[in-house]
Amino acid sequence: ERERRLVVVSNRVGPLDDEGKAGGLAVGLADALRRRGGLWFGWSGDTAENAAAAKEKTEIVGDTALVTIDMTEEELNGFYLGYANRTLWPLLHYRLDLAEFDRGSEAIYRGVNARFAERLMPLIDADDLVWVHDYHFFFFGAELRRLGFSGRLGYFLHIPFPPPEIVSALPAAHDLVSAMLAFDVLGFQTETDRANFAAFVTRELGGEAGEDGLLTLDDREVVARAFPIGIDAEGFERFALSPEAGEHEEMLRDIARDRVQIVGVDRMDYSKGLVERLRGFGRLLEEHPDTHGRVQFLQIAPLSRAELEAYAALRRELEELAGHINGRFATLDWTPVTIMTRPFTRRALAGIYRGARVCLVTPLRDGMNLVAKEFVAAQDPGDPGVLVLSRFAGARAELGEALIVNPHSADDLAKALRTAIAMEPDERRRRHAALRDAVFNNTAADWCETFLAVLEDDLKLPA
Ligand code: G6P
Repeated sequence: ERERRLVVVSNRVGPLDDEGKAGGLAVGLADALRRRGGLWFGWSGDTAENAAAAKEKTEIVGDTALVTIDMTEEELNGFYLGYANRTLWPLLHYRLDLAEFDRGSEAIYRGVNARFAERLMPLIDADDLVWVHDYHFFFFGAELRRLGFSGRLGYFLHIPFPPPEIVSALPAAHDLVSAMLAFDVLGFQTETDRANFAAFVTRELGGEAGEDGLLTLDDREVVARAFPIGIDAEGFERFALSPEAGEHEEMLRDIARDRVQIVGVDRMDYSKGLVERLRGFGRLLEEHPDTHGRVQFLQIAPLSRAELEAYAALRRELEELAGHINGRFATLDWTPVTIMTRPFTRRALAGIYRGARVCLVTPLRDGMNLVAKEFVAAQDPGDPGVLVLSRFAGARAELGEALIVNPHSADDLAKALRTAIAMEPDERRRRHAALRDAVFNNTAADWCETFLAVLEDDLKLPA
């Protein structure tokens, strides 16, 4: 029997090679498509005067066709910089205080979903497995159905899905969640996200929840389950052993000299808890003078969505705080904190992870967080570093052997740092072995196969 063709839809498309940008979605999907091949459809990253008329760009890489289309300036502002990242991103990360509600951008968001679905329609047929990703395309399935698509439709949300009390603040909440039910299978990062979604469908929409993630509303039956995303663990471990990684590992050890090197790697995003993290590091220096000159913290934070004021404000705050900590504690031969917005290749990052003694992954909310998994995969099992992980990262569900912290608590962060710095090799190895099992036993390939198996399974789906 021939394998059905995989058609992936996401706002960002590619690259398929390993030098992709930061962002869990690109990492997970690139691995899936490298293995299976298919069609990857989404935004080109460019704008055009008249996007509706613009031709799609096609790039063939191995067995995968990357097909992208442009947006107009108005779409970029209303869809990407508007509804997706001023409304949905903060809302779904539990930040009602940052969410802006604007009916103009909501209309443009829906319009982009409709227009992209129209452009995809001639490229697909009912035998394909169509898998739509992330918060940019909540209405995409409903639009494809409107256009007559009758094949299998899957959806995966890479970011959190908060409780109904938060989601229902969105003026379009009922419409949006109802539209999601046009998909046959809905995937979430964690059991918490899945349960929140099911709670919305049952309590707010009056649907019913059955066995194995079945949700019923009127005559619609869908399956909603948790499918935690993973990384290409072996591939990333190989990165960590590459010459480029080796150079970076060595550079890091050189600059650390005999100091404990702490690292963080995150897009510059308010969901990542960067300011709180730095306060935690500051608390450590403040309360434990014996750490002075003996620890240093490198935060790599490539700029992201920098056009948005909330992101620009975060950058200012973070840089001010770093300057403040350095100003207060630095000595002639010791600078406690370094913030770098320069992006690194994934091989270089793997080397930096391997050269670090401690990695801080302390988001206030995160769908999964693949940095946590990559840090684990990059370690030398004989002399591994320590992962400090937020209880609010999706990865927490699988990586319980990390040092788990409340990222809002500077005391908790400082305490975890003390524990990490002092941890004996035996305990480091024991914890790392358990984390490594978790990371290598649920890879990006497993995630993809598990999801697609459910999507393809006719028995579990309505006719
Ligand atoms: C997160 C989202 C992705 C997004 C990435 C980078 O990982 O889940 O959908 O692509 O951030 O953000 P950007 O706005 O640059 O695409």
